[in-house]
Amino acid sequence: MKILVIGNGGREHALTWKLAMSPRVDSIYCAPGNPGMTRLAHCVPIKVDDLDGLLAFAKRKAIDLTVVGPELPLTMGIVNRFQAAGLRIVGPSKGAAEIEASKAFSKSFMERHHIPTAKARIFDELEPAVRYIREHGAPIVVKVDGLAAGKGVIMAPNEAEAIQAVDLILRQREFGEAGNHVLLEDQLEGEEATFLVFTDGKTLIPMVTSQDHKRVLDQDRGPNTGGMGAYSPAPVLTEALQLQVLREIVRPTIDGLAREGRPFQGILYVGLMLTPDGPRVLEYNARFGDPETQVVLTRLETDLVEIFDALVSGRLDQIQVRWSPKVSVCVVLTAKGYPATHETGRPITGIDQAESKEGVAVFHAGTFLRDGELVTAGGRVLGVTAVGDDFRQARERVYEAVSRIQFEGMHCRMDIGLKAIGKSP
Ligand code: AMP
Ligand code: GLY
Repeated sequence: MKILVIGNGGREHALTWKLAMSPRVDSIYCAPGNPGMTRLAHCVPIKVDDLDGLLAFAKRKAIDLTVVGPELPLTMGIVNRFQAAGLRIVGPSKGAAEIEASKAFSKSFMERHHIPTAKARIFDELEPAVRYIREHGAPIVVKVDGLAAGKGVIMAPNEAEAIQAVDLILRQREFGEAGNHVLLEDQLEGEEATFLVFTDGKTLIPMVTSQDHKRVLDQDRGPNTGGMGAYSPAPVLTEALQLQVLREIVRPTIDGLAREGRPFQGILYVGLMLTPDGPRVLEYNARFGDPETQVVLTRLETDLVEIFDALVSGRLDQIQVRWSPKVSVCVVLTAKGYPATHETGRPITGIDQAESKEGVAVFHAGTFLRDGELVTAGGRVLGVTAVGDDFRQARERVYEAVSRIQFEGMHCRMDIGLKAIGKSP
């Protein structure tokens, strides 16, 4: 089988790493891929939003199965384009991906289908939004409707900051079209967890649970980032809670989308807040998470090609997915200045020594080969991942591997997975 993976982050490196283990795979192509993926696949310089280029490439190479990593091509309709050309592709249609592309759509969708989430109001004009903030009071969460690369959520601790945020979005047009609408949402309290499922639109197969670390500094301090690390499982999502999430959230989401003429086929990501009143949806994504994928796929025992093949054929009901009882921890190494800015072009050493440790895999995110030398090229540079029998062992392994890697200005959190120690999965 010939496979095409679209994307160039740690998530896509992990996907490629897992797909490459399948005996059914003859070759893998990545567009555009990264230096870590070149050891497993042929990287081709086609951008993720160049749908014409991707489609032409897939036809020319007679690709049997395409896997889409990031949201952008999904929301642009890559799945519709590939399917219309008779190509098999893992991911939701443009209509189904709306659940990630528009927070206003997903909020009203959840209301229509009685899916538990924070109460929110949607505004497209400044004055009524400001009036609502004054009536509602703070804290309040201000959200940009459209895609904003993880920067579209502002947690306003007081009314002045909330008003400043809506002004930035609706009047100063800081987020362009994505900020045509704004959501003003009640702030929820609790622990966050990620629930991912494979779905062909009918059958749901839950993945093992995971937890992301959004803030840049230890103890969840500092600004939000794309994700500083993750671990799996998330012990807070007990078996009973998982069943509740499936019943009250995931099933109604998949069925609701189907009833609204937007059947969802692909990976559904449900970002949850576990409040004292039960689990609430913070956000949906129409794809795998990053860095959750790194910890989830390192625990997957079943051939991922088998799963994807069944998914696009609508026969997920015939598949058994097995997971390792081991735990997994991923620590993201970032470049100096991240998330505000970041340095690039710093030489990276020690990846081979890190990878020689038991249970360790190093996934590239922001790296670049400059005249044969590996250098930093993004804010999130590498995702060092280790499996272990328990969180203590996985953390020991992962931080031992991290200590082998060096580049100027390197930063990582030291507390990834710490919270989970001693808690049974
Ligand atoms: P989102 O992109 O909507 O998931 O928001 C990004 C992050 O903002 C989440 O992971 C939460 O940490 C936080 N967040 C979003 N909505 C809320 C809310 N209603 N209450 C508390 N925190 C929130
Ligand atoms: N880790 C959060 C996301 O992928 O959106």
